[in-house]
Amino acid sequence: MKKGLILITGATGYIGSHTVVELTASGYDVVGVDNFYNSTDDIVGRIGKIIGNNEGKFYFEKADCSDPVEFERVFEKYPNIVGAIHFAACKAVNESVHKPLLYYRNNIVSLLNLIRLMRERAQTANIVFSSSCTVYGQPEMEELPIKETAVLRRPLTPYGKTKQMAEEILSDSVVAYENMNVCALRYFNPIGAHPSALIGELPNGVPQNLVPYITQTAAGIRDHLSVFGDDYDTPDGSCIRDYIYVVDLAKAHVKAMDKLLGREKAAPVPQENNNSPYTTAEATGRWRVYNIGTGKGVSVLELVKEFIKVTGVNLKYEIVGRREGDISQVWADPTKSCKELNWSADTPLGDVLLSAWRWQEALK
Ligand code: UFG
Repeated sequence: MKKGLILITGATGYIGSHTVVELTASGYDVVGVDNFYNSTDDIVGRIGKIIGNNEGKFYFEKADCSDPVEFERVFEKYPNIVGAIHFAACKAVNESVHKPLLYYRNNIVSLLNLIRLMRERAQTANIVFSSSCTVYGQPEMEELPIKETAVLRRPLTPYGKTKQMAEEILSDSVVAYENMNVCALRYFNPIGAHPSALIGELPNGVPQNLVPYITQTAAGIRDHLSVFGDDYDTPDGSCIRDYIYVVDLAKAHVKAMDKLLGREKAAPVPQENNNSPYTTAEATGRWRVYNIGTGKGVSVLELVKEFIKVTGVNLKYEIVGRREGDISQVWADPTKSCKELNWSADTPLGDVLLSAWRWQEALK
């Protein structure tokens, strides 16, 4: 069944490209926008190959969302947009410390442009926003697994701050503008690649994230993996994260968009133990926040061992000191997204790591 035209910013990026595939598979038409700042133009054709004869069509426009004139042209050309999923943003945590203005300009200005254009030019201002579990900072042990109602802590980096500011901008907009309907998805750690091995994560230079570093080491591009710290207060001493398969994550966006287009009011958030700063927005019934994770915490060492087990590839690794700014452990309580979005991340970790490895091999 045809479901309407969705705008995807950052459509050729890691999560964006997988989401285009899942949206078209579920019957949405998609207009993707990207300026290839952190991706390459061949991804457009790769997405086309995967989606083949999917019910939904895929159109692509090269544009920079932080340039209001360029971005507005997309809306002029496609007047039938009924929803947007906003991925376009810089995401290298470390880089953001050295280039804060780049992060504030790209991540905040593009969002301001999107909100204005969705309100003025689109048929309905439904927006799904790519947020991050970084808004929780390091939770207390008794807060784990973490719920959406947990305290939000001041992020340490400009990258994290842009995610928190974006949530604030969107929630204030929902309160002020009745035609806006927003869903913020707080991702935990996305990993893996599409089973076709045609799209996946393309790190810029030396990977900062764990799984691309592992696959590059296994492929012989890096000599060994450094495990940052084995003296954390966790069972094996290494940090714990919630690693979510990028295809499961992409599917959560389809469910979130279905929800927004359904126009039903968001379920009221129980006020007991609700530490969210967004109670005014929550009261409108047009503001939703969901954790998108598996609900399982996995340590760095467990993940390395699982990779070796499922791929059969030997991986050299060394324990080194802690990485500055790392939190010790965080994983999601995904009860709310499972229930309200009728979604769950059920791909086994071994399969996800194999998909990452196949993608690395395909990159040869
Ligand atoms: N790690 C290593 N060696 C490496 C790379 C990472 O041991 O070479 C460890 C890290 O110390 C951490 C874990 O692997 O314990 C995961 O690290 P990533 O860099 O893959 O992911 P982070 O959890 O640090 O960061 C991710 C996203 C951010 C987001 C953050 C929210 O990359 O965008 O989660 O917590 F802000």
